[in-house]
Amino acid sequence: MAKERILITSALPYVNGIPHLGHLAGCLLPSDIYARFNRLIGNEVLYIGGTDEHGTPSEIGAKKEGMDVYDYTTKYHNLHKDIYEKFNLSFDYFGRTSSKENIETTQQIARELFKNGYIEERESEQMFSITDNMFLPDRYVIGTCPYCGADNARGDQCEKCTKVLDAKDLINPRSAISGATDLEFRKTKHLYITLSKLSDKVREWVNSRNWNKLTIGIANKWLDEGLEDRSITRDLKWGVPVPADVFPDMDGKVFYVWFDAPIGYISITKELLGDEYKKWWRLDGGADNVRYVEFMGKDNVPFHSITFPATLIGADENYKKVDVLKGLSYLNFNGGKFSKSANRGIFADQAIEEFEADYWRYWLIKNAPETDDTDFTFERFAEEINKDLNDVLGNFILRVLKFYNSKFGLEVLHNARNSEKEQEVIKTLSEKVATYTTLLQNMEYRKAMSELRSIWVLGNEYIDEIAPWSVYKTEPEVAGKILVFAMNLIRIFMILARPIIPNTAERILGKLASDGDWIFDVEKEMSVISKGHKFSIPEYVFTKISADKIAELNEKYNK
Ligand code: MF3
Ligand code: ZN
Repeated sequence: MAKERILITSALPYVNGIPHLGHLAGCLLPSDIYARFNRLIGNEVLYIGGTDEHGTPSEIGAKKEGMDVYDYTTKYHNLHKDIYEKFNLSFDYFGRTSSKENIETTQQIARELFKNGYIEERESEQMFSITDNMFLPDRYVIGTCPYCGADNARGDQCEKCTKVLDAKDLINPRSAISGATDLEFRKTKHLYITLSKLSDKVREWVNSRNWNKLTIGIANKWLDEGLEDRSITRDLKWGVPVPADVFPDMDGKVFYVWFDAPIGYISITKELLGDEYKKWWRLDGGADNVRYVEFMGKDNVPFHSITFPATLIGADENYKKVDVLKGLSYLNFNGGKFSKSANRGIFADQAIEEFEADYWRYWLIKNAPETDDTDFTFERFAEEINKDLNDVLGNFILRVLKFYNSKFGLEVLHNARNSEKEQEVIKTLSEKVATYTTLLQNMEYRKAMSELRSIWVLGNEYIDEIAPWSVYKTEPEVAGKILVFAMNLIRIFMILARPIIPNTAERILGKLASDGDWIFDVEKEMSVISKGHKFSIPEYVFTKISADKIAELNEKYNK
């Protein structure tokens, strides 16, 4: 297989949010599995992640904790990093958007946009809070909804009646930060990216993309409605400063968080690779043969399909832009949203204390919210862990290895049997492995996981049907060969599961004193474990989740 070069990014979570299972299921895990799979099949991968750190929520969070904003974001950046390591996310680099590289790159892109005529300065009126001594972004103004009378409508939207609002429509407005009512409109200047002027170029580029229907639909809907110029600066302290050399009137302002965040993908690569970043991000620097795949929650699709590409197109045509967008839906908890404040749902730091990463990785990718929202419950979680990982996979592994050991010891004395029956298994398995490989390539995770499970089932069916324990009574040599065939199946199953449950797969492969990147030719792999090979028996593969444990989890996390 020809080696491909694949750039993978996972949307950068807001640093101030505590990661929950939904973030893992709807973006982080799918991207990690794609990265691991591509490395295993021999592609050159660069997998980038990080935290999105700018904006008002960080300023407010820091104030609440009485911390300096940078220290506050550092604290939470480390928390994210630590949790993702525990879930075995295999980022080549996990960076942050407050880095020096991101400040420089964002400023440089703004200069390029300006030079090309795509940034304009405009004046507008905005709510200023005298008590807070700051301009309030719309969603930080609260007041009575002019449509339904709800008394806690936000300046961008009323949650009660869902009407989209403007902060100036609110009756009796107050600051969401301090509750202060001494608000007044003040004139302020902002930079705008003139998307209206970029519209044709963006449309041409979108039409040259080979995206799925959903993504093309979202992108074209935006384009058809007409791209509006958008302000890309804010009156805040915490952010990328607008560079004074080209914008002398903008002193003290910073770029809007959605302007600098996706640029983070580029600057995080720079932080890792220095000037070599060009091999991934510059079409004139070696990136012309890169395939760039982005993972994100569905609400992020417009930013990644239109605004970020428009930014790059307007700045310099030689920036590498996305080839494939994978947008996913949400994971809910017992039919509702995960909520830290309401203590609803299990958060990633708690989850990893309860079970090893592989349990979560398996369940969350098997139930990836690909087309619709998915519902997590502890009952469903336990049921599938117990059935798939324990009954189907773990049991097969232990039965085979223990029985062989009890009759022949820990050194293999046989080669795999290769009768008509085994040929049949090899044929079916080859087809299934090919299907599974294609599904992973296409990021169709739910289908891929059902294929993987059916591959494991195949092993169980083989061994149940042929029953080496009874064969042993009359033909011990034949039983030995059957079991060695099954041992090779275990090895294959573990290699195929490596992107999904890496810890377990590597642990069991270790017991088999074996390794392997990917399975391309099932027949050939059947002779890897053969006469003279040594192995040992794992103490466990997975452990079942008891009814008591489920009750305990519901008690703790589902009040
Ligand atoms: N922080 C955003 C969110 O969690 C995602 C930003 S993606 C990036 O919804 F590309 F802008 F970084
Ligand atoms: Zn309302």
